[in-house]
Amino acid sequence: MANVVVIGGQWGDEGKGKVVDLLCPSFEHVVRFNGGNNAGHTVRFADRHFALHLIPSGIIQPTCRCAVGPGVVIDPVGLLAEIRELEAQSISVRTRLLLSSRAHLVMPGHRALDLARETARGAKKIGTTGKGIGPAYETRAGRTGVRLGLVRNEDRFREAVDATNQALGELLRGYDAPAPDPEEVEAAIVAALALAPLVGDVSQVLHDAIATKQAILFEGAQGTFLDIDHGTYPFVTSSGVLAGFAAPACGLPARAIGGVLAVLKAYTTRVGGGPFPTELNDALGEQLRRRGNEFGTTTGRPRRTGWFDAVAARAAVRWNGIDAVALTKLDVLDEVEEIPIATGYRIGGEVTTEVPDDVADLAEADPVYEVMPGWCSSTSGVTDDAELPDAARRYVARLEELLDVPIAMISTGPRREETILRAVPPFSQWFPELFRRKAPR
Ligand code: IMP
Repeated sequence: MANVVVIGGQWGDEGKGKVVDLLCPSFEHVVRFNGGNNAGHTVRFADRHFALHLIPSGIIQPTCRCAVGPGVVIDPVGLLAEIRELEAQSISVRTRLLLSSRAHLVMPGHRALDLARETARGAKKIGTTGKGIGPAYETRAGRTGVRLGLVRNEDRFREAVDATNQALGELLRGYDAPAPDPEEVEAAIVAALALAPLVGDVSQVLHDAIATKQAILFEGAQGTFLDIDHGTYPFVTSSGVLAGFAAPACGLPARAIGGVLAVLKAYTTRVGGGPFPTELNDALGEQLRRRGNEFGTTTGRPRRTGWFDAVAARAAVRWNGIDAVALTKLDVLDEVEEIPIATGYRIGGEVTTEVPDDVADLAEADPVYEVMPGWCSSTSGVTDDAELPDAARRYVARLEELLDVPIAMISTGPRREETILRAVPPFSQWFPELFRRKAPR
């Protein structure tokens, strides 16, 4: 059984939560490896609905052990609320969730600084989630952060929080913003201390898992083009998002990763600022937003919508080493008569099929489209390839051709059940149990 990394191949919100939920019965461990509660993963089955932010989507499956890795930043108040919400929905969390002692905490001052910075940026704002993620990673890199493991010694922990608060207070003063509210800080301290029984050495547990041949699913947050290095900088998040990052982020060797599954939406969305070459600012864009319910799980913000960008997706294939794709929200395109796919960018009169390394060039990119006929019939809830309209099958086949990667899963609705599984290698070799009762396509 391979250890598989599941990542987003676009700008986030591709539907990773549903894919992880579906696959995680095949894994003993599900680990979040980047980001914080800026993420929003939605899991739906039957009439149940879960919105997760920090806890891996594997928590919904009673057999999975879940971990939050060293590379994640943890808002203790947010995490405690998430645990309680799941427990109120009869999901057992505390016996199955391990939090890395090396993970850094997001404190109220980080959130205040995130907001102060965004206000100061004015029209150039990044459009962050306001969860304090950037400043938390900054204090980590600046070596003034607080690691969760300190909660095992309250005195040392409080001392470290004081030092971080002071550093944050100075930065906030630079924006004429007040120092963090002592009551909010105390609430964060109390919440963090309450998490102490869940804290441990995630890296060691994962090493032991590998040694005893237990399988690990690495659950990525955000999407490829929000990666701090390779994304549309500075309109990115503050952590590594690419699949290869999963191993070192968890203290594991690169060879621990056996396969990469990328989740890609059948069209594209993005939240916040930054270039988005295939964006639709018209009625069609609004139609995709409404049909796709494209509103943020974390912030409720309307998402920007546009056509599938094969130039960007091909770069994502290369950067992540994508072996297989889960294509989501195909049904959202059901009513569209003609479906363009961007296969190149025209920048300053020249056509390129590569993503430029300068965000200013990307902002000027005019997509070169290839137009596919729509199917104008319902694919909603379809679970068998053979039931897809011909035009829908052709659209999927064209994406496969452009990406040169097999599309192994197609999602036709928000629920776990509304999925087409295709017995294509290497996916079918990773998950033989999914196909025991299914004929290959
Ligand atoms: P931050 O991660 O809150 O600092 O936000 C930086 C950028 O990443 C903004 O454009 C956010 O909208 C975007 N972002 C962060 N997390 C997510 C996510 O889970 N889905 C989609 N966009 C996200």
